[in-house]
Amino acid sequence: MKQNDHFFHFLASHAKNYGFVFPSSEIYGGLNAVYDYGPHGIELKNNIKKYWWKSMTQLHENIVGLDSSILMHSEIWRASGHIEKFNELLIDNKDSKKRYSPEVLIREHINFMQKAPKTSKFIKNRKNEILSRLEKSIKKKDLLDIRVLIDELNISDPLCGSNNWTNIRSFNMMFKIKEEKGDLFLRPETAQGIFSNFFSVKKSSRKKIPFGIAQIGKSFRNEIMARQFLFRMREFEQMEMQFFILPEEEMKWYEYWKKIRLKWHLELNLGDKKYQLRNHDHLAHYASAGADIEFHFPFGFKEIEGIHSRRDFDLKRHEFFSKKKLRVFRDNLENYIPYVIETSLGLDRFFLAIYSSSLKKEKLDNGKERVVLKIPPCLSPVKAAIFPLVLKDGLPEIAKKIFQNLKIDYRLVYDQKESIGKLYRRQDAIGTPICFTIDYDTINDDTVTMRYRDSMLQKRVPIKEISKIIEKETGMRKILRNLSQFI
Ligand code: GAP
Repeated sequence: MKQNDHFFHFLASHAKNYGFVFPSSEIYGGLNAVYDYGPHGIELKNNIKKYWWKSMTQLHENIVGLDSSILMHSEIWRASGHIEKFNELLIDNKDSKKRYSPEVLIREHINFMQKAPKTSKFIKNRKNEILSRLEKSIKKKDLLDIRVLIDELNISDPLCGSNNWTNIRSFNMMFKIKEEKGDLFLRPETAQGIFSNFFSVKKSSRKKIPFGIAQIGKSFRNEIMARQFLFRMREFEQMEMQFFILPEEEMKWYEYWKKIRLKWHLELNLGDKKYQLRNHDHLAHYASAGADIEFHFPFGFKEIEGIHSRRDFDLKRHEFFSKKKLRVFRDNLENYIPYVIETSLGLDRFFLAIYSSSLKKEKLDNGKERVVLKIPPCLSPVKAAIFPLVLKDGLPEIAKKIFQNLKIDYRLVYDQKESIGKLYRRQDAIGTPICFTIDYDTINDDTVTMRYRDSMLQKRVPIKEISKIIEKETGMRKILRNLSQFI
């Protein structure tokens, strides 16, 4: 726990100092679990979106895009089951006034038992006993028994140590906006905008089953235990795709999307061991099959993306609630409601995965330390930096000319504010994959020093090659080409 705190402190302070992520409303003391993306953060985020969007809507000829609104008719949330079923249990501590998820309190208590020095068969059995009672009570909605379990285990508030708990209540996670004509909700998933536009998209894009609709957009959830930086936020972005299929092809497409989505992650080269696929123990109210792609965060394997078979749950319910036919024809004979396979990736959580696994402190040969962000070059906020070695003898002019020629194609930085060593360190810290330095040899032979972020190796390259090098080292083309072979 302590090590985690230390790591998050390092991550959050780097994110703030280098313009990746800022706490929201900081000048007013901040807002719990809401964050703003700074100048480098937004570039990294946009590059992630670009990789996802191109993979979905360019590599797959049968997937089209959509940007639906955040506010929708409240009947959509009745039909989707979110008003009735999108609930979490909560408990308050009367002394600390802090709110907790009873399930998380009990699970964390069990984890702590596991770490006890005498890890005996007795403890293991006791742990299983508690877990199975917890799961049964959640299923039966027996809130009283969960409360009794907390007392029996003598679980206290992790902050103040008090056992002064309220009763357990069920709480809907959607943010509500009160309106005279009825409540509006901030969407907790982007998917419902896709379902409600299914027919308009199909008709206007002349797509036939199987086809998909992809969307990137904000979602909102009133998370009780919002924490771990960008991992669990109250306002976040999702990159979701709903793939509409023939019912009898459910398993074929479910397996296909699990494979393709994992491949999409692996192409970024963060290491195969960083990912695992885990089948869901508990299915969401809309799903008939579900698996998570989990990423090995510094705090363990955790979900970053869900792949679900939603069958005809959503379209059927929207058909019932809207009284509009949401069916398609098969061979012009029978009409049916298509099944849906969904892929749902959290953009901010994925940002955290990339960022947290790439940020390193490295010892250098001279005994000093450097902070380096070894993010995949195609996602780097800045593709390359260009420096003059000294501020005289025409070197800045040559460097500026190279920068001016290339800035239309790539996001570059020209910098001359510090010594060359400090300029390299700054680019390392924001993840710039390559730097080019203009020196006295440049005047004679039109070559520059190129330095790699990861290895810190340097070599001389001709000025006329720089554009090609940036494309080769930092472009998305190679990754997209590899991925397209699997589609
Ligand atoms: N439409 C299906 C759906 O929303 P989900 O498993 O609830 O499924 C999908 O969410 C993804 O959205 C998760 O894998 C996660 O990456 C991201 N996500 C969910 N809640 C989040 C939160 N509170 N903060 C950040 N990301 C979240």
